[in-house]
Amino acid sequence: MEDTTKALAKSLDWSDPDQFPTDPESNPGLDSPSVPGPGAEKPASTDEKALDRWFLEQRGGKRVPKRLDVANELLVTSGGPLKMTGNITLIHENGSVTHANNLSLCRCGASKNKPYCDDQHLDIEFFDNGSISQLSDWMAVNRPQTITVTCVKNGPLKFRGYLRIFNKKGQECITVSGALCRCGKSSKKPFCDNNQGCAGC
Ligand code: FES
Repeated sequence: MEDTTKALAKSLDWSDPDQFPTDPESNPGLDSPSVPGPGAEKPASTDEKALDRWFLEQRGGKRVPKRLDVANELLVTSGGPLKMTGNITLIHENGSVTHANNLSLCRCGASKNKPYCDDQHLDIEFFDNGSISQLSDWMAVNRPQTITVTCVKNGPLKFRGYLRIFNKKGQECITVSGALCRCGKSSKKPFCDNNQGCAGC
């Protein structure tokens, strides 16, 4: 009989975060931090053709994103922006859509070109050491995935899709959905704590 762990790993489509179990009580900034834990097998296969098609459909823009054969990552910089790499769909507050392979997203709240960083964090002397408030010991994967980031009006950056959040201190959190602070005031950075009303976003 097939091992149940293997059967679970095979049954999960890692491009679809809806399939993962959720635990909303664990952190208001993380909608569903539960992913297969240490020891879980990597997915048996990724739907490469679907990913290729997804990116082919976006062609025609000035800067055509490519499907990267890497997992999505978010570097939380010290006193600076959130640097995201991967296969990213960014939905702006007005509903327009941008596809990108790397983004520098404001998290200090002072940018005049939101959601992007424009180095205003230097002018306001934004102080944050880049710590990650909630860590995980889930196993990172190398498979390419897609991620959708939605700019919530007067609110955080919500995301859905595999994301490895890390900093240069060696801290790491792997999740498949959540909300990132972009007003600089959250007590649970880089996640939104839902307590500030995000008036400065
Ligand atoms: S983090 Fe750079 S302008 Fe806000």
